[in-house]
Amino acid sequence: MKPTIVIAFSGLILAGCAGKEEFAPAPGASGPEIFQAACAECHEPKEHGKYFELTKEKANVSAIADKVAKGGFFMPSFPNITGKSLEALSEYVLSNSKVE
Ligand code: HEC
Repeated sequence: MKPTIVIAFSGLILAGCAGKEEFAPAPGASGPEIFQAACAECHEPKEHGKYFELTKEKANVSAIADKVAKGGFFMPSFPNITGKSLEALSEYVLSNSKVE
C-alpha cells in the first residue's frame, strides 16, 4: 500500500465516520424533495411503509437534525443542509418514521 492511502484510510477510521456529503439543497426545497435527492438512495421505505424505526429518544426533530449534521459510522454527514432546509427535512423524516 502507498503511504498516502494508508494515511487516508486511518483518517477515516479515526474519524469513525463515512465522510462528508457535499450535497446542498436548492433554496426553498421541501423536506420530501431534499429526502429524495440526498437520502433515498440509502433509505428505502420498510414493509410498514415508513423509512425509519426510531426509538423514543431519537424520534424528535433535533435528534434527526443532529444525525444529518454529524452522520454516523456508515452514514455521511451533510454539513450543507442547514437552517430551514434541515428543519423541513427532519420534520419529514419524523413524520415518516415508526416510533418504537
Ligand atoms: C450513503 C448512505 C446514506 C445516506 C446517503 C444517508 N444515510 Fe442515513 N443512515 C445510513 C446508515 C448506514 C445508517 C445506520 C448506521 C449509521 O448510523 O451510520 C443511517 C442512519 C440514519 C438515521 C438514524 C436511524 C436510527 O435508527 O437511529 C437517520 C435519522 C438517518 N440515517 C437519516 C438520513 C437522512 C435524513 C439522510 C439524507 C440527508 C440520510 N440519512 C442519508 C446511510 C445513509
